[in-house]
Amino acid sequence: MVTELKPGVYWVGVTDWGIRRFHGHELSTHRGTTYNAYLITGEKTVLVDTVWEPFQDQLIENIREITDPAKIDMVIANHAETDHSGSLPAIMRSAPQATVVVSPRGAESIEGHYHQEWNFRSVKTGDKIKIGENELIFVEAPMLHWPDSMFTYLTGHNILMPNDAFGQHYATAFRFNDQVNEEELYEEALKYYVNILTPFSALVLKKIDEVLALNLPVDMIAPSHGVIWRKDPLQIVRKYQKWAAQKPQPQAVIIYDTMWNGTRRMADAIGDGFAEMGVEHKILDAAVSDRNDVLVEVFRARTVVIGSPTFNKRVLPSLAPLLGEIQGLGFKNKVGAAFGSYGWSGEGVKIIEGCLKEAKIPLVREGIRCKWQPGGADLEACRAFGRELAELTKKG
Ligand code: FEO
Repeated sequence: MVTELKPGVYWVGVTDWGIRRFHGHELSTHRGTTYNAYLITGEKTVLVDTVWEPFQDQLIENIREITDPAKIDMVIANHAETDHSGSLPAIMRSAPQATVVVSPRGAESIEGHYHQEWNFRSVKTGDKIKIGENELIFVEAPMLHWPDSMFTYLTGHNILMPNDAFGQHYATAFRFNDQVNEEELYEEALKYYVNILTPFSALVLKKIDEVLALNLPVDMIAPSHGVIWRKDPLQIVRKYQKWAAQKPQPQAVIIYDTMWNGTRRMADAIGDGFAEMGVEHKILDAAVSDRNDVLVEVFRARTVVIGSPTFNKRVLPSLAPLLGEIQGLGFKNKVGAAFGSYGWSGEGVKIIEGCLKEAKIPLVREGIRCKWQPGGADLEACRAFGRELAELTKKG
């Protein structure tokens, strides 16, 4: 359903209630998502971003509720990833005279995706395009989250359209932040930040400072996924500043996989050590937990403890992608430790320690290993290990 944000400015996007895996299968989207596109009418007709290609007919129907798609003068392609650019070919078939406005890197990525000789116009930070009485102002936002990413600001209505930044994979019946469950909204906004933006946290802080320094009034922040921030729109900017600072809580996450429960029993005993010291912790079995949700807990925690038995001289397979993501996301201000049971060669703990070091998560002490199943002395050693880590977690 088309929604008017301000007179003559419409949400013409699509709600995808059913999607549960995004970026191929890389990212879980338990609450679906939306692909937000915005139509600005007036002297010029401007479409800001499109939607994923399977929904192109719905986008065109939505636009048709407001105007004839052939009248589109300009399509702003803030980012080439196909959840936003996928319907460009369909739009450009309807409006072949339209100009496609892109960032300098967007010229490269949009061309590389579609191989079309559209009428491109490349814009840099600070460039403006007059569209009647109002203007569009562009701000390049490289690595938020692709090199081509760009923010578009609409003067007069004071709407910032920052594409993926400030988004959430969150399908809802309503369009605005003040109409939805706040707890769910922030759960999804945080999960989005952790899994997509964490590696670029330093750039997030710089870009926020740069945009705030422009002193543009902001009535709405309209991202390309999820709800539009209308009530106190800068609340999500403040939240991003907090998240990007990466100051984790004095709590721990213990992540493990297990074959015959030896490593699980070690995890529980380490958790008991944390509990004895009054330190909050979560224990997650990587084999049955959603990887993207586990990463949110890693983001929150100061101390990350990972365990696996040795399996084929390595760790159990469920942990390999998780360790890879921990390395790739580049979490800051954490400490780590490893544990695990083994029967024969026993490399698992060393492998986890190597991954933590590569992720620049310093090891607070040597990992703890247990041969065969943990006995009473082993479990007491795990509790002591937990107590020691808890002390360090509290100190920060
Ligand atoms: Fe929502 Fe980077 O695409």
